[in-house]
Amino acid sequence: MAAGSTLKVLHVAAEVFPLVKTGGLADVVAALPVALAEQGADVRLLLPGLPAVMDGVQGARTVIDVGACFGALRVRLLLARLPGSKLPAYVIDAPYLYRRGGSPYQDSQGQEWPDNLQRFGLLGWLAAHLAADDADPQWTPDVVHAHDWHAAMACAFVAEHGPTPAATVFTVHNLAFQGLFPMHDWPLLGLASRLMSPSGLEFHGQFSFMKAGLQFARHVTTVSPSYAREIATPEFGCGLDGVIRSRAGSVSGILNGIDDALWDPATDPAIAQRYDAERLAGKRVCRQALQAELGLQADPDALLLTVVSRLTSQKGLDLVLAALPALLKAGVQLAVQGTGEPALEAAFAMAQQAHPGRVQVHIGYDEARAHRLIAGADGIVVPSRFEPCGLTQMYGLRYGTLPLVRRVGGLADTVVDADGEALAQGRATGFVFDAATPGALERCVRRAIEARADAARWAALQAAAMSQPLSWQGPAQEYMSLYRRLTRVD
Ligand code: ADP
Ligand code: GLC
Repeated sequence: MAAGSTLKVLHVAAEVFPLVKTGGLADVVAALPVALAEQGADVRLLLPGLPAVMDGVQGARTVIDVGACFGALRVRLLLARLPGSKLPAYVIDAPYLYRRGGSPYQDSQGQEWPDNLQRFGLLGWLAAHLAADDADPQWTPDVVHAHDWHAAMACAFVAEHGPTPAATVFTVHNLAFQGLFPMHDWPLLGLASRLMSPSGLEFHGQFSFMKAGLQFARHVTTVSPSYAREIATPEFGCGLDGVIRSRAGSVSGILNGIDDALWDPATDPAIAQRYDAERLAGKRVCRQALQAELGLQADPDALLLTVVSRLTSQKGLDLVLAALPALLKAGVQLAVQGTGEPALEAAFAMAQQAHPGRVQVHIGYDEARAHRLIAGADGIVVPSRFEPCGLTQMYGLRYGTLPLVRRVGGLADTVVDADGEALAQGRATGFVFDAATPGALERCVRRAIEARADAARWAALQAAAMSQPLSWQGPAQEYMSLYRRLTRVD
């Protein structure tokens, strides 16, 4: 692109809050483009036309009638605006592939959609056509920024089309989900067979969309610096650590921000009383209201902990279940909200039955309720086995709800443990533990109980937590410098 002209960036993703959300990816895809636009970039999104997207976007018009491809008879590329931010979003209208219930990735029984290769292959393919100035003569991106395996094929399609000048950036939000497909489906992608090799997309007898991003993106980012280091090791690399090490100079971590307008206790319409660091009385009102709402004992001395999470093995919530009897004896109240693996859902439901008034569990997804839990609790527990970034501990920081987290990935990068030195220096913002064992979690919780018994110490921790800079402005600046470096524009 010409020096001095506006940097055009296309974000390619499967989810965007509030239209489609299965996790933090949707929050990032909603907030980062807005923050980049505030930095002066010309940002657009490319999204699959899932029902909530087709229903939720505004002012859609056809950019190009693509016709039959990827197993669909009718494919159109639309240009619309997102509700709220009003950012322009290209939407792929392909009813045969996208117009269905269930999650974006699975049917209502939890089975991967059998045609995910076509559904997300098409997403990457259209991104490459936009980059090649093939789909919309009015707008050609300088940077194609693809998120997670769903969008990763964009990087392979762009790389395979020699004349496309766009720089590709691939962000790994979670390496554990890779988009693996059987070799016999390879021809459906229409890519050269030489890419079906270990130096291409081949992965242990299958092929991997994630690998397309890792191998072919000009630059790979992850959502925290610690996770960027971790995924280069066998422990966290999910079998792809070798590929990541081979890209060493082109992999970096940029910590996520949070939407600090949506997550702001001073303006939050969902909570019992608004508050900020100077007016913490409102937080006490939120705490009492939460105890009343959940049927928890109105106990001012309990350490009221919350969990708002997908209930999956990644999140280490089995540690909470294992430590629960000891935690309750120590004076903890626990409020859980989540959905996920049936065994974890059942175990938490049983914990509530066993400890009425001390444990409350809501199996379900509810944004407003998540705000009330985070505003009302004293602490938020995130004991993940791995955590690329994690957003809820940052919501906790902003709401003066101290995070209790495992020292891993983005949790390690966002929470400063209340050990002697950090505490003395006023830097501590929460409680961090190392071993993924119930005992280590229990000790961590006991330290929080001890800290809360000292009102001045707790208030100092809350003040430090609530003053952390967590907005998207800093991360957006980092992405802008990366884009400029890759496109060689000042
Ligand atoms: P992940 O993306 O791995 O699930 P993150 O912490 O990055 O973890 O993001 C999770 C997002 O989903 C947060 O915005 C969190 O508040 C939200 N969330 C998770 N489970 C629920 C739930 N049951 N109800 C409401 N929000 C939830
Ligand atoms: C993934 C990760 C989570 C991260 C989110 C947004 O879902 O599991 O740690 O915060 O993506 O980047």
